[in-house]
Amino acid sequence: MNKTITVIKGDGIGPEIVTEALRVLDKIAQKYGHSFTYQQIDAGGCAIDKYGTSLPEESLQKCLDCDSVLLGAVGGPKWDGVDKNIRPEAALLGIRSAMGLYANLRPAKLFPQLSGASPLKPEIVARGIDLLMVRELIGGAYFGDHITEEKNGEKVATDLMTYSEHEIERIARTAFNTARKRGKRVISVDKANVLDSSRLWRAVVHRVAAEYPDVTCTDMLVDNTAMQLVKDPSQFDVVVTENLFGDILSDEASMITGSIGMIPSSSLGEGTRGMYEPIHGSAPDIAGKNLANPIGTILSAAMMLKYSFDMDAESEAIEAAVNKALDDGYRTGDIMSEGMTQVTCSEMGDKILENI
Ligand code: NAD
Ligand code: IPM
Ligand code: MN
Repeated sequence: MNKTITVIKGDGIGPEIVTEALRVLDKIAQKYGHSFTYQQIDAGGCAIDKYGTSLPEESLQKCLDCDSVLLGAVGGPKWDGVDKNIRPEAALLGIRSAMGLYANLRPAKLFPQLSGASPLKPEIVARGIDLLMVRELIGGAYFGDHITEEKNGEKVATDLMTYSEHEIERIARTAFNTARKRGKRVISVDKANVLDSSRLWRAVVHRVAAEYPDVTCTDMLVDNTAMQLVKDPSQFDVVVTENLFGDILSDEASMITGSIGMIPSSSLGEGTRGMYEPIHGSAPDIAGKNLANPIGTILSAAMMLKYSFDMDAESEAIEAAVNKALDDGYRTGDIMSEGMTQVTCSEMGDKILENI
């Protein structure tokens, strides 16, 4: 098969981790007789430096005109002072929105080899961690009006969190359909004891749940969810939640599996064209040092093959190769533990490539 992939290396560790994912994709193409064409575009801080905007029109067009997008990470302290409309993160939000990618799937699964890297007690980890965060991606406070104004002699800032029924309904369907293929348990996370948007969320999720009698649906308040995730993560199968809660809870869920560097994500809308990215950021503290963990990005490429290109065997070959590298004891610094062999970002790429 021929596929055109728009590639955004981005900022910080972005170029390092995406380079490893592209090597893996090349090996897959070679082994399975596919041809992947990469159109590399500038977006994020590097685009601000070159063009004065984080998302040049031509870059956005190439995201709309391809089979899928692979992204490393954008942002960093260098661009903290730039105007909010052109800051690096605005590029990411602009692409997600323009592509209509409302469903962000973030699987937080513990590789058994990494149980020692989890900060949780061994007896909690032993129960297993295998949850899927289904995060609504193009609504809520991220996309409501953002206003900073002068009132009564001081500055007042507002970020509107808005959800409409159709936005909640479609992400709820994603959660229930996905749960059917997994443990058939959905936990819907909200703050319905305080927020109107959460009360609507809960009502719509219940309405959709009625169409899925084979899937259990439980509500959980977001503050309690943050606590339950560290108390007993084995209770979670599919978690569905709004944009901001999902952002925060997915970082927490990632860490209990060992490291945020391990977790991939897919973002999809109505069609098969998606965007695939690790859930972490540009990690400015380790950028340019060949220290980053490329596994989240490599597994994101694997998700692309499965969800957008229908290449299940190829996707599983990547997952198996990652597993083997971990079995063989190779660890980047973030997942390092006693008795293991510490490797760089590119060496981890080498080890995974050898297993394909
Ligand atoms: P971060 O995820 O970049 O880093 C948090 C911590 O995790 C750091 O200590 C970092 O070294 C570590 N880490 C992250 N990824 C790692 C990896 N692959 N291997 C090893 N360690 C890793 O979060 P932050 O520091 O809050 O954000 C930095 C910048 O990234 C900000 O500008 C933020 O807006 C941006 N960001 C971008 C994305 C994205 O592009 N999708 C996501 C999150 C944050
Ligand atoms: C993520 C990031 C982004 C988000 C930022 C960089 C806009 O934190 O992908 O998790 O909040 O969605
Ligand atoms: Mn985040």
